[in-house]
Amino acid sequence: MAARLVMLILASSFSYSHLLLRTSKVRLLVFSLLLFLGCSTSTNNIINNNNNNNDDVVNGVEAGKISSTHHHVLKLNLRAFLEQRTAVFSSNSNSCFSQRSSRQTKGATILELIHRDHCSGQKINWNDKAKKTLISDNARVRSLQSRMKSLTSRHKDDASEAQIPLTSGIKLQTLNYIVSVELGGRNMSVIVDTGSDLTWVQCQPCRICYFQQDPLFNPSLSPSYKSISCNSSTCRSLLFETGNSGICSETAPQLCNYVVSYGDGSYTRGELGLETLNLGTTSVSDFVFGCGRNNKGLFGDASGLMGLGRSSVSLVSQTSTMFGGVFSYCLPSADAASAGSLVFGGDSSVYKNSTPISYTNIIPKPQLPTFYFLNLTGISIGKVALESPSFGKSGILIDSGTVITRLPPSMYSALKSEFLRQFSGFPSAPGFSILDTCFNLSSYQEVDVPEIKMHFGGGAEMVVDVMGVMYFAKSDPSQVCLAVASLTYEDDVGIIGNYQQKNQRIIYDSKGYKLGFAKETCSFA
Ligand SMILES: *[C@@H]1O[C@H](CO)[C@@H](O)[C@H](O)[C@H]1NC(C)=O
Ligand SMILES: *[C@@H]1O[C@H](CO)[C@@H](O)[C@H](O)[C@H]1NC(C)=O
Ligand SMILES: *[C@@H]1O[C@H](CO)[C@@H](O)[C@H](O)[C@H]1NC(C)=O
Ligand SMILES: *[C@@H]1O[C@H](CO)[C@@H](O)[C@H](O)[C@H]1NC(C)=O
Repeated sequence: MAARLVMLILASSFSYSHLLLRTSKVRLLVFSLLLFLGCSTSTNNIINNNNNNNDDVVNGVEAGKISSTHHHVLKLNLRAFLEQRTAVFSSNSNSCFSQRSSRQTKGATILELIHRDHCSGQKINWNDKAKKTLISDNARVRSLQSRMKSLTSRHKDDASEAQIPLTSGIKLQTLNYIVSVELGGRNMSVIVDTGSDLTWVQCQPCRICYFQQDPLFNPSLSPSYKSISCNSSTCRSLLFETGNSGICSETAPQLCNYVVSYGDGSYTRGELGLETLNLGTTSVSDFVFGCGRNNKGLFGDASGLMGLGRSSVSLVSQTSTMFGGVFSYCLPSADAASAGSLVFGGDSSVYKNSTPISYTNIIPKPQLPTFYFLNLTGISIGKVALESPSFGKSGILIDSGTVITRLPPSMYSALKSEFLRQFSGFPSAPGFSILDTCFNLSSYQEVDVPEIKMHFGGGAEMVVDVMGVMYFAKSDPSQVCLAVASLTYEDDVGIIGNYQQKNQRIIYDSKGYKLGFAKETCSFA
């Protein structure tokens, strides 16, 4: 049984748990990316650009646009940032799991997306949280690097590399963003995961279920529920995709059992079923999902998980006739108070307050088909273009689950030295975990932060939001670090982490093999 655990490699939160699962014949990369989707309107007052006219101070959205196009320095108001963070993390109610909103506009369905911390009502020790986040992030990236190497190296049968201890995004609480959907007429909150494919919810009767806020889904009470038989093409195509021979239930009729293992002991097991899924007012009939009878892991009181990966079972593929295989998100700062949005459909006129979209191609990586790789052709800081032999060489992964962006050593050292040259005159502070470029900004109210811009094949650009440049290690500004880290080896795979994706509209066009960027201040309303 255990040997067959992974029937669907639908991913798992690689965010900290991309796992390579090996059977005698198959190596599977289970990978799950997290979406940090989100929200934020209240960051506006923190972000102003360097253009000191009054409008900029009042209107953060405008200021953000101006600063990213005409200026090369962003203002970061340290005190406002910390005050807001304290407010957000201490004022949460636990009514959060009740229904989130959705909206229908033109051809797009827009789901409100919130960060789980907003529902915890717990007091957070920021210093501990910051350290844990980076330790976890590092574990995840190391694990990811070895798995990618073992998948692409010629010595594939070297088992040692593939058996590095796995860490899970679920365990590390990185799967943090939830939306509400209606399945079989019941509202449920599900975690959003771009790295997984299978959408699943906990199902009654449940053998083992973790605590969730909403009532358990009960298929026997839903007239629209249908089970999937083991010899159906749906079941077989899943098995084909995962390279696994499949599991049929032992009882008649033979149902299509699935297992998704997240590598740290977290898993969901159950059978595939068909049900009516409503995304806002868009109805998807006979949606294939996992009815989880045995689920373990810290899924954070949510009813299950929404998989936005690229296989045919993912929500993106199953809704491609409606939404064209396109979805997008705008990751808010986790410290922001408001909700963000997850948008299905490619009508860009529904994006609010965003700049024109620039697209770059997704680079194909046959061995790592669930990952989104991009061609990073350059980085500039302020007006200075960095030099590195690694630009344009191999793909950089864009990942909603990795927190901190990782660059090959030559790129990182170029970035660090140019950043230090432009962000000069501030007292330094000790490094913090994986971050080695830190400052004691205690005696400053506001600082000018150099703009960091990433350039991609085809001319696409992503200007890192001011909220994504510096990482606050403490609850005060005594240790504020450049939020980028170096990889160990030049041929390690670079990763664009979610900390640098904040306040961007990022459009995943799986059919068109392209990914778009636009600057946006995330919000749902
Ligand atoms: C689900 O939530 C929406 C939005 O809050 C609400 O309008 C709808 O009535 C709810 N549906 C059910 C079946 O509870
Ligand atoms: C699946 O198996 C059942 C019997 O268990 C059979 O009646 C049915 O025709 C099979 N369907 C397919 C698509 O093979
Ligand atoms: C990235 O783009 C550059 C410039 O267009 C090109 O020379 C290079 O071959 C591309 N690299 C990859 C990995 O596609
Ligand atoms: C940071 O700077 C402040 C003011 O300059 C100083 O009082 C404080 O001791 C410094 N903190 C650390 C941790 O160095």
